[in-house]
Amino acid sequence: MADDDLCYCFTKDSFLGKAPKKSPLLLRMVVVVLLMACSLYISSVCLKQVGIVSVDTPGILKVVERQCPVPNIEPWEIPYVHYPKPKMYSRAECECNPVRYFAILSMQRSGSGWFETLLNNHTNVSSNGEIFSVKIRRRNDSTIVETLDRVYNLDWLSSASKNECTAAVGFKWMLNQGVMQHPDEVVEYFRTRGVSAIFLFRRNLLRRMISVLANEYDRGVKLLNGTHKSHVHSPHEAEILARYKPLINTTLLIHNLKQVENTTAQALEYFKSTRHMILYYEDIAKNRTKLYEVLDFLKVPQRELKSRQVKIHKGSLSNHVENWEEVQAALQGTQYKAFLDIDY
Ligand SMILES: *[C@@H]1O[C@H](CO)[C@@H](O)[C@H](O)[C@H]1NC(C)=O
Ligand SMILES: *[C@@H]1O[C@H](CO)[C@@H](O)[C@H](O)[C@H]1NC(C)=O
Ligand SMILES: *[C@@H]1O[C@H](CO)[C@@H](O)[C@H](O)[C@H]1NC(C)=O
Ligand SMILES: *[C@@H]1O[C@H](CO)[C@@H](O)[C@H](O)[C@H]1NC(C)=O
Ligand SMILES: *[C@@H]1O[C@H](CO)[C@@H](O)[C@H](O)[C@H]1NC(C)=O
Ligand SMILES: *[C@@H]1O[C@H](CO)[C@@H](O)[C@H](O)[C@H]1NC(C)=O
Ligand SMILES: *[C@@H]1O[C@H](CO)[C@@H](O)[C@H](O)[C@H]1NC(C)=O
Repeated sequence: MADDDLCYCFTKDSFLGKAPKKSPLLLRMVVVVLLMACSLYISSVCLKQVGIVSVDTPGILKVVERQCPVPNIEPWEIPYVHYPKPKMYSRAECECNPVRYFAILSMQRSGSGWFETLLNNHTNVSSNGEIFSVKIRRRNDSTIVETLDRVYNLDWLSSASKNECTAAVGFKWMLNQGVMQHPDEVVEYFRTRGVSAIFLFRRNLLRRMISVLANEYDRGVKLLNGTHKSHVHSPHEAEILARYKPLINTTLLIHNLKQVENTTAQALEYFKSTRHMILYYEDIAKNRTKLYEVLDFLKVPQRELKSRQVKIHKGSLSNHVENWEEVQAALQGTQYKAFLDIDY
């Protein structure tokens, strides 16, 4: 495709050289516009492929490194297709496999840990965990950009990093870990570097709140043999964690739910100009086929995905809250009433 376009541009060039002198100013302007369009197009296509292009003589492009064949993609996709060259290893036989960049944008206790284990069950997906939970990585714009560069260059080594054949690389980013503090810089990075955002939210914010409170409690008490666990792999462990029933402060309840809604809406507003998809934990839990939409979004082959994680708070919420009657009374007649009944 790039070659065809090169020919096309040069043809136009020579045509213009022979052009009659009827309206020189108009013609010259046409030449300039065409040349600009062509060179912009060539550099956008060629730079994408290999990184280094040298211009010896104006109008003559010389590709220095080996060029990967142009994948069969739609023009809109070009900014989202990358060929990283990791510093620490060679991508070997997958050097020319295109790689997509993504980030899972979510809030604590919204199912993103579970979602990430599902994604990492795909041979070609590496989601590197909550890398910005470490404060110094999100201290300022430059530490954020440095960290992102390393992840997307496939130089981030974690238990999730796969082999050289990774076709989608990303990580899990909680909105309160630098995203909402540096929205302009992050959005700019996503737009210019072709990163796609996967928003993962929870519909039932009351269930989320219970999970947050229980997780905070366990952080101190460490119910599982003195180890704090945010996610568990057996029904037995889930049952032990679910024995604790948090007390919900009903004075602050409505305000807290509104705050979470506001953060969600604000994040979507910031990222509306980026390529993104919005997912809800409940929808995936009820229908695993939803995950195929994610694999399509990441342009990796569809396959069944498995996670060993087990849900902690199952069944009716009335069993999971200490002051259930009070909570019920606080939400009756509000827009959050449905949270009392819906499962998940
Ligand atoms: C996906 O999960 C299955 C079942 O737990 C496991 O056998 C398989 O090795 C996993 N694949 C990857 C790439 O993690
Ligand atoms: C950002 O933080 C790093 C690490 O603390 C520091 O070295 C650097 O000078 C800071 N950069 C800016 C622009 O503040
Ligand atoms: C996925 O990984 C396998 C090897 O692990 C590789 O052969 C295949 O080309 C990769 N697929 C994509 C879409 O990159
Ligand atoms: C705690 O440790 C004991 C002894 O090693 C074991 O039998 C038990 O299953 C453990 N409980 C949990 C919740 O991991
Ligand atoms: C709920 O929060 C409010 C405001 O922080 C506080 O004044 C009140 O004592 C709390 N109620 C309970 C039961 O903890
Ligand atoms: C969220 O709350 C802030 C501060 O109260 C407000 O300025 C902003 O407009 C709200 N955002 C949305 C999307 O509602
Ligand atoms: C599950 O999700 C898929 C993909 O979004 C959809 O086509 C299908 O109809 C859904 N199935 C059910 C039972 O809702």
